Amino acid sequence: MASITFSDVSKRYGTVDVIVGLRLEIRDREFMVMVGPSGCGKSTALRMIAGLEELTQGTLAIDSRVVNDVPPKDRDVAMVFQSYALYPHMSVYDNIAFGLRMRKISQQEVHERVLEAAGVLGLGQLLDRKPKALSGGQRQRVALGRAIVRKPSVFLFDEPLSNLDAELRVQMRAELARLQQKLATTTVYVTHDQVEAMTLGHRIAVLAPAGASGRTNLQQVGTPLEIYDRPQNAFVARFIGSPPMNILTVCISADGGEIIGPGFRARSPAPFAPALRAYAGRQVLLGVRPEHVHDGAASSLRNPVSLRGPTEIAETIGSEVIVHARVGEERMVARLHARRVPRFGEMVELAFDLDAIHLFDKDSEQRLAAS
Ligand SMILES: Nc1ncnc2c1ncn2[C@@H]1O[C@H](COP(=O)(O)OP(=O)(O)OP(=O)(O)O)[C@@H](O)[C@H]1O
Ligand SMILES: [Mg+2]
Repeated sequence: MASITFSDVSKRYGTVDVIVGLRLEIRDREFMVMVGPSGCGKSTALRMIAGLEELTQGTLAIDSRVVNDVPPKDRDVAMVFQSYALYPHMSVYDNIAFGLRMRKISQQEVHERVLEAAGVLGLGQLLDRKPKALSGGQRQRVALGRAIVRKPSVFLFDEPLSNLDAELRVQMRAELARLQQKLATTTVYVTHDQVEAMTLGHRIAVLAPAGASGRTNLQQVGTPLEIYDRPQNAFVARFIGSPPMNILTVCISADGGEIIGPGFRARSPAPFAPALRAYAGRQVLLGVRPEHVHDGAASSLRNPVSLRGPTEIAETIGSEVIVHARVGEERMVARLHARRVPRFGEMVELAFDLDAIHLFDKDSEQRLAAS
C-alpha cells in the first residue's frame, strides 16, 4: 500500500527555481508517468520521492506520513536508473541478491526471492552469467530484478529504457506494463518520450520547465486518452502526439460566428460558439492533429474545412505519408493514408473536420471550453 502526495513542493538550486508549487497525488497501485521535455524537473521530482533530493518548500507524503526528513533507506522505495550499473564481476544471481544480503535477510529468503524475481523476469536460465554475457534487454531485466526482490511499496523508474534500441524498447515497455500489473505496486516512471508515457501510464503528469513568473511545472494530469483528447493548453497539445498537433493562428469574425484561417472561412462549430463570442474580432489558436487532417480530394467529412498548399516535405512510413504543406503563412502537417508521395512543391488538397479541432486562448494558451 502506498500513495504519494506532493503538496506545494518547490525546489530551488541557488537562484534557479526548478520545481514550483507542485501538487500531485499518485494513487495506491497506480502507474504514473511523469513526462516532459529535457530539464523540466522530472528527475528532480523522482529523486525527491526517493529521498535523494531535499525539498526547498512544501511537503511530500508517502501514504499519510510526511517523509521530508526520512532518509532514503527508510522509505521503502526502489529506484531503477537509466544506467543500470550492474556489478561486472558478479553473476546475475549475485547482482540480484546483493541488495538483500546488505539488508541481513536470511539466506533461504534471499534465495527464494531471487528465484521468484528471475521467474517473473524470464532470467531463470541466465543466473550464472556475468553481465558482459547479456544483451541490453537482459541487463535491463537484471536491474529490474534488483528492484523487485526488495518488494518495495514504490517503484521509481528514471528513463530505464533509453539505452535500449527501438525494438527492445517496445518489447521491454510491454514487459514493464505486464510486470506492474502483476506486482500491483505503486510506480512512478519518468520519461521525455510521449509514446512511452501514452502506452505505459494509467495516468500521465505532463510537466514543463517552471515559469520565470512562478508558474508551476505541472500542466495536466489525466489518463492518456484524456490528455490526447482534451489537452488543457497548447503546451500539452504540442507535446503529446506524434507528429505534434498543428497549431494555427486564426481570426474570429466581428460577429463571433466565423473562424477565418489561412485560405478558409468557416462557421464556428456549435459547441465553441458561446466561448468564441468573447473573442469576436480577435485571434485564437486552432489546433488540429495530423491524423485528423485528410486528403482533401478523397475525404467525406461531416463539417469540413479545405486547405491547399505546396508540399514542403513528404515522409513515407509504410502505410502512411506524413505531408508537410505550406498554407498561407502557416505550415500544416497531415498524416495521410495515401500510397502516392507528393513531390516537393506539388500542390496538395487537405481537409479537416471542424468537429475535431481544439481552440486555445492566444495569450494564456489555455483551452477554450466547448459546451
Ligand atoms: N545540482 C544542481 N544544481 C543546479 N541545477 C541543477 C542541479 N540538478 C539539476 N539542476 C537543474 O534543474 C533542472 C531540472 O533537472 P532534472 O534533472 O530534474 O531535469 P529532467 O526533467 O530530468 O531532464 P532530462 O530529461 O534531461 O533528464 C535542469 O535545468 C538542471 O540543469
Ligand atoms: Mg532526468
